[in-house]
Amino acid sequence: MRRLILSDIHANLDALEAVLNDAAGNWDEAVCCGDIVGYGASPVEAIEWTRRYADCLVRGNHDKACAGLLEMGDFNQAARASVLWTRAQLSAADMDWLKGLPAGPAFRADYQVVHGTPADEDEYAITAAEVEPIESHLLRTVCFAGHSHVQGGWSWQRGGLIPLSRPGFSESERVIDLDPDYLYLINPGSVGQPRDRDPRAAYAIWDTENRLLHFRRVRYDFRLAQGRILEAGLPEILAERLATGR
Ligand SMILES: [Fe+2]
Repeated sequence: MRRLILSDIHANLDALEAVLNDAAGNWDEAVCCGDIVGYGASPVEAIEWTRRYADCLVRGNHDKACAGLLEMGDFNQAARASVLWTRAQLSAADMDWLKGLPAGPAFRADYQVVHGTPADEDEYAITAAEVEPIESHLLRTVCFAGHSHVQGGWSWQRGGLIPLSRPGFSESERVIDLDPDYLYLINPGSVGQPRDRDPRAAYAIWDTENRLLHFRRVRYDFRLAQGRILEAGLPEILAERLATGR
């Protein structure tokens, strides 16, 4: 089984299409760690694809906010503006679908999926200190998470917590051997708004048969996504950050 792991698409159709082209023929099932909408200018298309293809998915905080299920107290001005704009684009059926998205964690036989952490769907866990307490909530050997928009993760090995490395700026892939005796918290990175200083779209493929995780980065024409954002009248900062991956 080869699973396509996507997170934080954030209504960026151009990045999503680039990822799907890159992954074409290399996956059997799709997993989505939430934040399908918000920030970007193609929420309808992002929902359409996810609704059709994601075999396992959880909601993100932006999905909740757009669905009216989350107070926007923690959202900055640009994020709030994008929530209000997104709501205006969605049909009643899309809104109902967003409202009905499950909170993480979602479980399957050999993995679990969360947006933030297994303990709190809206929490960030990037550093070892933030990740370490999560261990008791890991009920499968592999847990996929999004939210931080930072590709990578951690493994709990006998010697302690070891970080997983992502592709360097000149590489398109980093392959990790998954040891069945270790626990893994894996963030595929953000398809539509990377924040790990690499503006390329991020995703992962989990090849269960060979116990391999492929972290991938894909160049795409972010100027197209920027144009859609500006044309929609969304805040300029949401377009600008796509060029820098910050
Ligand atoms: Fe996000």
